[in-house]
Amino acid sequence: MTSPLHIVRGELIHFIADPAEAGASALVHVVDGALVIADGHMVECGPAAAVLAKLPTTPSTTRITDYRGKLILPGFVDTHTHYAQTDIIASHGEQLLAWLEKYTFPAERRFADPDHAAAVAAFFCDQLLRNGTTTALAFATVHPASVDALFAAAQQRRMRMIAGKVLMDRNCPDYLADTAASGYAESKALIEKWHGRDRLLYAITPRFAATSTAEQMTLAGQLFAEHPGVYLQSHVAENQAEVAWIAELYPQARSYLDVYERYGQLGARSVYAHCIWLDDTDRARMAATGAAMSFCPTSNLFLGSGLFDLDRAHDLGVRVGIGTDVGAGTSFSMLQTLNEAYKVLQLRGQSLSAERAFYLATLGGARSLYLDHRIGNFAPGKEADFVVIDPHATALMTRRMAGARTLAERLFVLMMLGDDRCIAHTHILGEAA
Ligand code: GUN
Ligand code: ZN
Repeated sequence: MTSPLHIVRGELIHFIADPAEAGASALVHVVDGALVIADGHMVECGPAAAVLAKLPTTPSTTRITDYRGKLILPGFVDTHTHYAQTDIIASHGEQLLAWLEKYTFPAERRFADPDHAAAVAAFFCDQLLRNGTTTALAFATVHPASVDALFAAAQQRRMRMIAGKVLMDRNCPDYLADTAASGYAESKALIEKWHGRDRLLYAITPRFAATSTAEQMTLAGQLFAEHPGVYLQSHVAENQAEVAWIAELYPQARSYLDVYERYGQLGARSVYAHCIWLDDTDRARMAATGAAMSFCPTSNLFLGSGLFDLDRAHDLGVRVGIGTDVGAGTSFSMLQTLNEAYKVLQLRGQSLSAERAFYLATLGGARSLYLDHRIGNFAPGKEADFVVIDPHATALMTRRMAGARTLAERLFVLMMLGDDRCIAHTHILGEAA
């Protein structure tokens, strides 16, 4: 018995390489294209006429979904976000350290209540989907049950989710502190419970070096070494006051990033949010170890943290993905996040092309998470997560699109003017979510 086929027809856009390296050949564009999906995975993609001509003649085994007039892209990959900060998005007036004290810690305290965690997790996952995001790397809170809630919500929606319990045993309110020993034991139990279950993967989650003792940092590195395939996520070099504080807390380290390296926390599948106040030695260490940077432009502008240097990261060969960083970030929309990435890079004198922006939001994100064998484009065998975009979702977009001649121009209009209103459908493993 062969599996039934699902054909999805529309204008296909995906990447097979990084446009910053491969140029125009990185992007595949099929104006009237079709995806062939079986058992939630890609079988092939190509021009609709060729795909349809090859179909089995028994229509009962083939279903066609017609999205002509819409763009079909791989599902977006959000490489850094905090589900527990959903309710404090858009909180006024502070930079990082005061923002954590004033808004973030009190909001995260509420996740001691599993019912609250479940309600926020459901809302968060639904927001990801309505924005076309099908894979995310997310912080939970210090409470192990907050991880259970997020994984349960993602599992129910069949999403790819990487998440973990925050490790935090100093410089935080008592009500949010774990200990080096409890953090280790609870993380280990969560890894055993969730890592590799359906599409879920675990990330060891030391909040940042300021909120972990040396003992907890050691144990986080040890957990990472003990569990090949598991992720590690943290924050680094986001804000200048934070960087100065880290230098006081860890006087022996060469740099903020070096703290993580000393504790065995740099390597493949480690993902660091922000990476603004790094030097080239740090960037070279990230490249050499296989660590990834998550560029979080809306957050960096909102908290006044600084301007990420994409060209330097690229020149030194570091993996880079895009992160919304909700709730310091101000949008769940990867389109709006690309909009602000463009503006951050303008302030750096760097011109982000639309092709590169959409690469970073799809295949680039997948590569930074070492998931490009499973997601990120429409290559055969990959999981069929994709987003269906209406380029005429608003009157303004329709008007501006009329003057866009090239695909690059259309993609640029999409990332500058688009948001959840133009996400017509999000498909997970082939099916509309
Ligand atoms: N650094 C440590 N914790 C956080 C957090 O929750 N958000 C951001 N943006 N930076 C952090
Ligand atoms: Zn963050």
